[in-house]
Parts: sequence; structure tokens; C-alpha cells
Amino acid sequence: MPIVDIHTHIYPPAYISLLKSRTTVPYIRTFPDAPNSPRLIILPGENDPATPSTSRGRPIGPEYHDIAAKIDFMDTHKINISVISLANPWLDFLPESEAAETARRINDDINDLCSKYPGRLYAFGTLPLSGSTGEVIAEIERLKSLKYMRGIIMGTSGLGRGLDDLSLDPIYAALQSTCTLIFLHPHYGLPLSVYGPRASEYGHVLPLALGFPLETTIAVTRMLLSGVWDRFQNLNVLIAHSGGTLPFLAGRIESCVAHDGFLKSEGRGEGGRRAVWDVLKKNIYLDAVIYSKVGLKAAVDASGPDRLLFGTDHPFFPPLEKGAEEWASVNTNYQAINEAFGDEEAAKGVLGGNAIRILKLNNE
Ligand code: URA
Ligand code: ZN
Repeated sequence: MPIVDIHTHIYPPAYISLLKSRTTVPYIRTFPDAPNSPRLIILPGENDPATPSTSRGRPIGPEYHDIAAKIDFMDTHKINISVISLANPWLDFLPESEAAETARRINDDINDLCSKYPGRLYAFGTLPLSGSTGEVIAEIERLKSLKYMRGIIMGTSGLGRGLDDLSLDPIYAALQSTCTLIFLHPHYGLPLSVYGPRASEYGHVLPLALGFPLETTIAVTRMLLSGVWDRFQNLNVLIAHSGGTLPFLAGRIESCVAHDGFLKSEGRGEGGRRAVWDVLKKNIYLDAVIYSKVGLKAAVDASGPDRLLFGTDHPFFPPLEKGAEEWASVNTNYQAINEAFGDEEAAKGVLGGNAIRILKLNNE
């Protein structure tokens, strides 16, 4: 059974040029003390002038934009097929007037990259969410004509007001009617104040280990509470990082709903909408990018072994040692799958079978 990586990013050439042309986050820049070492600065807070310039953001090398480097990485880690996606923050920051045209250019670029390695690469497209609703829907429909596209990737901001925004309904309707899978991925984390005054002493650990998954969990819970999956019962979402903390917290979410007098008085309490557990088993897929058997077990208990899909998050989390061939971040995920499922059929599904079935990766 082939191994399929469904969580693996790229910044295609058109996007790299865009980042290089900018002077505010997100952007790529060099600093006077290291003029030959461009750095990718994307996350809120990464541009803090108090942080030394050479540790702002991250160094950016070919692994971020060179498709040949992606294929090398796949070969090193025995990955047969990758479903590549634009990395955060996608096109969220573009002015309305540039969004649609940029989305078309980037999606075409990524589809072309896939065509260079037939059978090895597929992709999730990106949407011009700062454009008009009509432009977003037109791109959802156009993506269906691009041979290698298998869904779209997006963040948690939606049209600027989050994923429980009723203005997203026409977009959810278009995603549902075109059977387009959403790959939901965090970027914004939590307000920097929650990390405390000593945050800069802890590198990227708090925003990446906790901010990202909690951002995702809050976004999905808002979708649930606002009834997105009651209005769009066939809308399918693949949630990054094994659902943030959703599998672990689903029971608590249900219990808080059941005990909320305000929701009850409005007829939106227990029984007034689909249960979180039902949505987890029918509409939600989870990646296996959680780095431990404990997290994987929670994911599989919540959604089922046929809804869990291997991923790497390449090119993020590279080895810190120079010259290391294999990436510990990838091998930790392989090991967690092995510890959770051993030789069971479920392991083959998680490693590739589920992705091939769900994303229809064998009709070229
Ligand atoms: N950091 C990011 O900014 N994005 C990822 O996908 C992973 C780590
Ligand atoms: Zn990612």
C-alpha cells in the first residue's frame, strides 16, 4: 500500500515573488548582519524588533519552494504520493482587488508543479477569500477543472470574521455542491498576551504547540455551535494536527452545550443541532500529525480509523542538526502510527489507503 502525505506545503514561485516584494508580515527579507540568508517571517509576533534579526521567523531554503526538493524529501522518507498545499497565511492578506487573479495564478502554478511528476503529486488549491463572494465561488468551480486538485486549504479567518460567519454560507454551499474538501489549517494562533511576558524566551514552542491547535479547536467549535453542519450536512473538512484538541474536548463541548441555559432558551441546546460526535464521524477527517500514540488514539476514537490520514507538515520542523538526511518530525509520526496500530489493516489505511480512497488519488 503506497504511503501518502496529505499535509505537506509549498510556496510556489509566484508566491515567493509576492513575499519578496512585501515589507510587512508576511514577507521574506534579509537582514544587514546576514545579507545572504533570507528569512521567512509569517506568524504574528515573529517580527518583534526585540528579537535578534537572525532568529526572526525562519531561514528559507529550497525546501520551501523547489518541487525537486519536495520529491527528494518524499524519496528519503518512502512517501509515494504527496498532496501539496500552499502554506500559511495563504492569500488572507491580499487586497480585494488582487485576490482572485493571484489565486488563479498560484493554483495554476501548483497544478503545473503536480503535472511534472505524474502519479506522485496532487494538491489542495487556495481561495481568494479577501475577494468578492462571486470570485471565491468562481475559483471553487474553476478548481474542479484543474487535473490535480483534490480540495482547498484554508485558515480559520474565513472572510475576516471566522468560520461561523453567516456570510460564508454561499461559499459553504459551493464547496458542498462541488464536493470540495476543506483542509482546515491554523495560522493566527492565540492573542500573544496569553503567552505571557516571558514568551520570547521559549522560541516558537507556545504558538506552535498550543496556539495552533487551540486556534483550530475554537474555529471548528464555532462552526459546530453556529450550525454549519446542520445547514450543510455533506460539507467535509480535513482538520490539521489531528483536529487540534477537538477529539479530546468533544465530550466537554457537548456537556457545556447541554448545560447552557441560554442555548436551551433559544432552542439551540442539546438535541437542537447535530452532536459533535456525529459530525466527527461523518464530516470530519483528521490528519495524523500529532507526534504521539496518545493523540492518535484520541483521533481514531473520535473519528474512526478510516478517517485518519498520514502527514508530515514538510517543510516545517526540519532537523536542527546540519546534514541530517531523515527528519525526526516525520519519523516520530511514523513511529506513533506504528505504536498505535502495529501491523493492523488500520495502519495501511492511515499511511495511504484512506487518502487514496477519500481523495480519489488513483484516477489520474
Ligand atoms: N509553522 C507554520 O507556520 N505552518 C505550518 O504549517 C507549520 C509550522
Ligand atoms: Zn501545516
